[in-house]
Amino acid sequence: MQDIKCYFMPAADPPPMDRPLVRKGKAVSLGIHEREEIPAMYREFAGADVQKFLGRPDRLYYLESEYDWYDRLRKDDRSRVMAVLLNPDVAGVNSSYRLIGNVGIHGIHPVNRTAELGYLLFRDYWGKGYATEAVSLAVDYAFETLNLRKLFARVFAPNGASAAVLAKNGFVSAGRLSGQLYIKSHGYVDEVYYELFRNH
Ligand SMILES: CC(C)(COP(=O)(O)OP(=O)(O)OC[C@H]1O[C@@H](n2cnc3c(N)ncnc32)[C@H](O)[C@@H]1OP(=O)(O)O)[C@@H](O)C(=O)NCCC(=O)NCCS
Repeated sequence: MQDIKCYFMPAADPPPMDRPLVRKGKAVSLGIHEREEIPAMYREFAGADVQKFLGRPDRLYYLESEYDWYDRLRKDDRSRVMAVLLNPDVAGVNSSYRLIGNVGIHGIHPVNRTAELGYLLFRDYWGKGYATEAVSLAVDYAFETLNLRKLFARVFAPNGASAAVLAKNGFVSAGRLSGQLYIKSHGYVDEVYYELFRNH
């Protein structure tokens, strides 16, 4: 009779899955957002510093709405919002990829082959070149993977850091709407448009 071996070993817990990466950079990478990190993003992004130069500084942010945002995001083929992750060797000993913000390619237009770029980082990680690298990875993804032809971004005129991030990635100013946006700290400010064409 054939010797039949049966293995009824209890299944061990699977090892934690590495987060899928979309692009790997020197200090930061772009990866897929995970639902569990919504509360951390909510706490970081709801702050006045981060919201000051974003589209709706008047908004009140509710944690539940962020889950709704995440659920819409997963199904929205016209957007790619990616986690900005600090690479393990930069994050420190025994660290894995650490979430520090996000970068989004919004309103992907299949005929025009255009989209709008947006980005924001947690306050503690500003001023270290991370947004510049994250934008460069997102630009590469937009042009090389999505095969887009052109990206644009809108910036509140006093947001010097954001304008610098775009300029360092080759975006040029394409015009401005005067006194277009109201911010409590500045009054009515211009909205500046930036654009970047794929060069091949
Ligand atoms: C905009 C933002 C993403 C920049 O992130 P960051 O990691 O600080 O950006 P980087 O460090 O890559 O580059 C910032 C550059 O701006 C420069 N900068 C900072 N403040 C500046 C200012 N007020 N005026 C001009 N340049 C400024 C820095 O010197 C740096 O340039 P350098 O590397 O040549 O010295 C970050 O401030 C943020 O998340 N802000 C809130 C959300 C937001 O405004 N998003 C953009 C919406 S359009």
